[in-house]
Amino acid sequence: MDSKIIFSRQITIEDWKQDKISQQVVLILGVGGIGSVATTNLLRLGVKKIFMVDYDRVEIHNLNRQTLYSNKDVNQQKVKAALENASFHNVGNTEIQMFDLDAVQNWDKIVEMASQSTAIFNCIDYGDYWDAAVQSLCLYYNIPMIIAGSFAQSFMAEIYLGTPCYGCMTDGLKEEYLNQITKENITNLKNISFLPSNNKPQGQSHQVLCSTAGNFATQLLLNYLNEQADSQTSKKVLFYLTTFEIVNFPVFSKNNCQICKYQEPIKEQQIITPEPIKEEQIITTELNQEQK
Ligand SMILES: *[C@@H]1O[C@H](CO)[C@@H](O)[C@H](O)[C@H]1NC(C)=O
Ligand SMILES: *[C@@H]1O[C@H](CO)[C@@H](O)[C@H](O)[C@H]1NC(C)=O
Ligand SMILES: *[C@@H]1O[C@H](CO)[C@@H](O)[C@H](O)[C@H]1NC(C)=O
Ligand SMILES: [Zn+2]
Repeated sequence: MDSKIIFSRQITIEDWKQDKISQQVVLILGVGGIGSVATTNLLRLGVKKIFMVDYDRVEIHNLNRQTLYSNKDVNQQKVKAALENASFHNVGNTEIQMFDLDAVQNWDKIVEMASQSTAIFNCIDYGDYWDAAVQSLCLYYNIPMIIAGSFAQSFMAEIYLGTPCYGCMTDGLKEEYLNQITKENITNLKNISFLPSNNKPQGQSHQVLCSTAGNFATQLLLNYLNEQADSQTSKKVLFYLTTFEIVNFPVFSKNNCQICKYQEPIKEQQIITPEPIKEEQIITTELNQEQK
C-alpha cells in the first residue's frame, strides 16, 4: 500500500501539509453524528492515530445521521460498531483505539489519551463546564480543541487555539467550578462528574446538518495544520443551513479568564478630551425623555 498514491489527489493542493496531517493523533470524544463524520474524515485524510471514546449504545433514532452505524448495530456498543466501520474507511492504515467509557467519570483516562494527542474533537454534549474542562486540558498540552454542535437547521463549528480560549468566549461560567478545573490541576482530576451538565431539550438533527457540521469542524483543524490565512487563532462560526448565512462570533480574550489566565497588558494612560456635546444630541435626549 503506497500512501503517496492513496493521497496523491490531496498532497498537491496548494499549502497542503500531508506530512503534518500524517503525524496527527486525534482524540475523538463522543462518536455520535459529528464524531462519526470527523472519524471518517480523519481516516480518509490519513492521520496517524485516532482514539475514540463513547459509552453509549447505538439506538434506533441515531441512525438518521450517525454514519458509522447501521440497523445491524442497534443495541451494540457504539465504539465497537464504530471501530468495525472505521476499519472500512481506514485506507491509509491509521492506528485506531477505542474506549467504551464514560469520559466524565473516567477523566484520568482522558488525560492519559490527551497527553499522547495532537488535537481533540470534543463531541460530547455534556455542557459548558465539560467543554471548559476539555479546553483546560488542551491548554495544558498546548493542542487545539475543536467543537461542533448542531440543532434543527443550524450548527456551530469552533476551534480554540490558546488565548482566546473557550473560557474567554463563554459567558456565565461560575468561578466555583472553573477554580477546580484550572490548567494547574486539570490533569490531577480523576472524575469530573462534580461539574454541572446542561439540561438540554431533546436534540433535533438530520444527516445533512450533522455531516456539514462535522465537515466544517474538520476543516477548521485542516486550515490550522495547513497554516491557511487567519487560521492560527480561535474561531467560532454559526451556520444557518436554510439561508446559508454564516455568523462569525467576535473572538476576544477576557481579562483574568480563569481558564487561560489572560491578563490585559497594562496600557499607558490615555488622556481623552471629551468632545463638546452638539446641539442635535441635546434635542434627541429631550425627545427621549418626553416619550417616557
Ligand atoms: C461501513 O460503512 C460503509 C458506508 O459508509 C459501508 O459501505 C460498509 O459496508 C460499512 N462497513 C462495515 C464493516 O460496517
Ligand atoms: C465518579 O463520581 C461519581 C459521583 O461522585 C460517582 O457516582 C461515580 O461512581 C464515580 N465514577 C468512577 C468511575 O469512579
Ligand atoms: C485546583 O487548584 C485550585 C487553585 O489553583 C484550588 O483552589 C482547587 O481546590 C484545586 N482543586 C482540586 C480539585 O484540586
Ligand atoms: Zn481564556
